[in-house]
Amino acid sequence: QVMQFEVFTLLPEVFPPYLESSILQRARQRGLVSVNVYNIRDYTHDKHHVTDDTPYGGGGGMVMKPGPVFEAVESVLGLDARQADPRPVCPIIMLTPQGRVFSQSMAEELSHYERIALLCGRYEGMDERIREHLVTDEISIGDYVLTGGELPALILIDAVSRLIPGVLGDPYGAMDDSHATGLLEYPHYTRPPEFRGWEVPEILLSGDHGKIEKWRREQSLLRTLARRPELLEKIDLTENERIFLKEHGWQNQK
Ligand code: ADE
Repeated sequence: QVMQFEVFTLLPEVFPPYLESSILQRARQRGLVSVNVYNIRDYTHDKHHVTDDTPYGGGGGMVMKPGPVFEAVESVLGLDARQADPRPVCPIIMLTPQGRVFSQSMAEELSHYERIALLCGRYEGMDERIREHLVTDEISIGDYVLTGGELPALILIDAVSRLIPGVLGDPYGAMDDSHATGLLEYPHYTRPPEFRGWEVPEILLSGDHGKIEKWRREQSLLRTLARRPELLEKIDLTENERIFLKEHGWQNQK
């Protein structure tokens, strides 16, 4: 299982520094992930390589012209968006605050594709015909507004890549993550066993793996109850876990 990302942007230079670091660098060197970045400006034909224009109807700001974006995506993906059934060769995702809010389950779904195209907007927005006739999905990384879709695209690439088998060295790498289980993660400790008088919970030093696993699960449940109680409504809990949570003040809606 490998993943190829095709990124379309007016700011290609912001991608390499992050992609050339740490886990993503190693994943790319091992051929597990590849990221191609295309400058939309290279798909203009006019002398000044114009990619934006003023909005019809007036108002402030600039709008990204459809031509260069369609040309870039169509030529890289080898498709013609005019065809009645362009049968999208792969998801073509626009990063926009108007999209579905990104989540771990969306990252998991996307990790099963072989190829994903990411379209990063700049300026005030994109000509609506790009959304209507080219894009297959719109994703937001959260309810706040950034200056462009580049950081959101990097976030999506990062979250999806680490789910591809082999990208995290440890085969269990992504299993216990906060959100992978639907719960927040339990607390972690490493040496020394006492630091400035603050001790590591004794149970973790006991060597009793059964007890440690139970403690971690309880910590995950308590932490989720304290910080994100709404997450508890979305997951399957055992009867014992429900009892444990109720003993700790959980008032579930169901
Ligand atoms: N572009 C600007 N803000 C964004 C956001 N929150 N998510 C995705 N794309 C964006």
